[in-house]
Amino acid sequence: MKNESGMTDSVSRRTLLGLGVGTAGILSALGSTSEADAQAPPVGRGGPRIRDSFDFGWKFLDGDAPGAQQPGFVDTGWKDVDLPHDFSIGGPVSENAPARGQGGYLPTGIGWYRKPFAIPESYSGRKVSVEFDGVYQLSEVWINGQYLGKRPYGYIGFSYDLSPHLKYGGDNLMAVKVDNSRQPNCRWYSGSGIYRHTWLLVTNQVHVAHWGTFVTTPQIDMDAAVVQVRTRVRNEGPDAAACRVTSTILDRDGNPAEGAQVSPSQSIPANGECEFVQQIRVEQPNLWSLENPYLYRVRTSVIDRGSDSCDTVFGIRRAEFDADRGFLLNGRHVRLNGVCLHHDGGSVGAAVPERAWERRLEILKAMGCNSIRTAHNPHAPEFMDLCDKMGFMVMNEVFDEWKQNKTANGYGPYFDEWSERDVTSFVRRDRNHPSVVLWSAGNEIGEQVAVDGVGIVKRLVDIFHREDPTRPVTMGCDRIAANLTGREVATPPEFLAVLDVVGYNYFDRRRERAEKYCADDRHEFPARKFIGTENGSMGGIRGDYSELVPASPGAAPRGRGNRGTDFEQLWKFRRIYDYVSGDHMWTGFDHLGEAQWPSKGSSAGVLDTCGFEKAGYYFCQSQWTDKPMIHVFPHWNWPGKEGVVIPVLCYTNCDSVELFVNGKSFGVQSYWFPRVGYWPRQEGGGRSTVPRTTSDLHLTWTVPYEPGSLKAVGTKDGKVVLEVEVPTVGAPAAVALSVDREAIAAGRRDVAHVTVRIVDAQGRVVPTADNRVDFGIQGEGRIVGLDNGNLASPEDFQGARRKAFNGLCLAIVQSTARPGRIQLTATSPGLKSGSVAIVTKV
Ligand code: GAL
Repeated sequence: MKNESGMTDSVSRRTLLGLGVGTAGILSALGSTSEADAQAPPVGRGGPRIRDSFDFGWKFLDGDAPGAQQPGFVDTGWKDVDLPHDFSIGGPVSENAPARGQGGYLPTGIGWYRKPFAIPESYSGRKVSVEFDGVYQLSEVWINGQYLGKRPYGYIGFSYDLSPHLKYGGDNLMAVKVDNSRQPNCRWYSGSGIYRHTWLLVTNQVHVAHWGTFVTTPQIDMDAAVVQVRTRVRNEGPDAAACRVTSTILDRDGNPAEGAQVSPSQSIPANGECEFVQQIRVEQPNLWSLENPYLYRVRTSVIDRGSDSCDTVFGIRRAEFDADRGFLLNGRHVRLNGVCLHHDGGSVGAAVPERAWERRLEILKAMGCNSIRTAHNPHAPEFMDLCDKMGFMVMNEVFDEWKQNKTANGYGPYFDEWSERDVTSFVRRDRNHPSVVLWSAGNEIGEQVAVDGVGIVKRLVDIFHREDPTRPVTMGCDRIAANLTGREVATPPEFLAVLDVVGYNYFDRRRERAEKYCADDRHEFPARKFIGTENGSMGGIRGDYSELVPASPGAAPRGRGNRGTDFEQLWKFRRIYDYVSGDHMWTGFDHLGEAQWPSKGSSAGVLDTCGFEKAGYYFCQSQWTDKPMIHVFPHWNWPGKEGVVIPVLCYTNCDSVELFVNGKSFGVQSYWFPRVGYWPRQEGGGRSTVPRTTSDLHLTWTVPYEPGSLKAVGTKDGKVVLEVEVPTVGAPAAVALSVDREAIAAGRRDVAHVTVRIVDAQGRVVPTADNRVDFGIQGEGRIVGLDNGNLASPEDFQGARRKAFNGLCLAIVQSTARPGRIQLTATSPGLKSGSVAIVTKV
């Protein structure tokens, strides 16, 4: 078998130490090499490790170009692009696009990238490699016309050694062919091209291998933790090399948390590899938690003739799944309030700027979400870093298909040859992230019910365990108990028994079990650990209330309708039973693909593609957060419906809410659920002072419509804590702009999100406005995405014009290379225009 660097395992990998070996044994095994070897005088060239972005200065062709890998190929006329780059998202959208609804009706195809770059003479004798964080799909890479290899799976990171083929002190040419022409090959929008970052890495010949560190915390007590650092060191030189590894743990501020650990010297054969294992005790550790996601880093230094050094971020935390108590973080029960997320970022497609993900995660955090499922493929490395930093748990999922394809041209034909390598790469890349608490080997995999299914799942789970013995493995299973009708085949218990935690997609999918969820299975398999890998959400179309207020009596609601009550019911179940460690709703944000014309995406999210909240967002917030909140809907602009009775709904975490319409009270409402413990009277106190009016998880009033205002007044512990008003607003009068950050970094990466609101003369959002907005941009920025959250909108995501949808739209603006000022203006016929300024800084 070939490893990441393309070398055969037998010669390259010499794992000296098994996992079970204690530190003393490890050190003495390593100590067998003589001190004299370790102190051999430095020879050859050396220098510090350099890892630079390789994202800028590429040329791109949308189409095939046989021979374009040759350095002499003439690429005049090709487009200048920066990476990450997604060549599908610019459109045009077509109902006949080969990717169909699965790909959001966006174009796909073959694309070529070429990048000329210089390599200094001083790199000669060192190792130079290129790293790709993700290329969709079937990438092939050449350096100076020399073929380096292919990688079919479009969501996986990989690297190639360039050293033997480079011209040191001269010009070099990298060429990448991407083939996303065989369609459909994915059930959702994948994007096309080199849509994630690329890096150029320069090391000495003896260096820490790619993804070569693995940090675990085998012991965590009240006052100390033991941190274990496994370091794979490669020697790519022509002679054996003696080296030591020094590991230093740095705290959040970069100060050493403990003294450095120096390993004994070990000789690594030419073209060989050695693993060093060290254990370091950290006194009074700061545990990584959702509230305080404290991150340490370990600085690894390899000392031989040259040296190498790299940092690995990690956290000290204990994550456990328990058959009775569900999920425990640092010994404390935490319910996973999760969302499934696809990897696209709406209008920017698959090439998502890091800040766009940071903003999305901020919005989810404010909802009370604490867990993410990476549906159904590895996400970008920076996404994982953000989850570490911001305090989210991650169920990290690798596949949507094994051998059995779900689409005509899916992963199936590659599975046998590539799955071990893909899973290994995936786990090695992500196993140091404290946010990752669970691996998922796949989603709704056909082999759940196939004759060879048990064998395949076992093989994959073994790879996960081999690469990371510290975390459990699950899968999103959709066929548990599917044989109730006697006609369907259910996932057999032997298949589920291979999983460390059994993942349920749609607890309520199976007919008469709908209201019981997994209660029967709990009874039958008391040792089983349960998690909701995927369940419904309160998606729908943002700002669309056709379910509550039909256009005409009996008219069908638009979109997928409100699944609110299903979700409320499920939430009660989850809230009562701790043995289900949590759940991941389908989905957090709307995603591209999985669409039906003319829509380009799925409206399953509680947030639209712009990140604007739908009503379901507030349901989650009412259940998952404590800071007083009230969300009242629908809006209160219903001309022509005067006197028609309209249900007014409210999500809140207040004890009670009183609704006033034009100053007149429609009464106080409050929840019955959860009814925790005894009634005060039974404990000797008086009756509850809060009138319980509903066993639902929303409050309702029925109100004959009259223009004016709805006002909701919330109380907690007998005191008014919040008042929220929903006014009837006037006609659109102006375009108002606001930006998430007034200063961003110059350098062609950072972005600002500008929210555009169509407002009335008093500055209040007009909730039904769909005015056209024309954008103008001056200064050091460019618009990289325009969106309004309406997936059926015919406009392109790129350009300078967008209609508002239910009052809002969004512009994503990226800095140029130079620091300066960006002025974004928005005009709309007949309305007062708006503008916003953004400063870009070095
Ligand atoms: C699930 C599947 C998701 C998505 C969803 C749509 O069964 O796992 O990827 O397709 O259905 O409702």
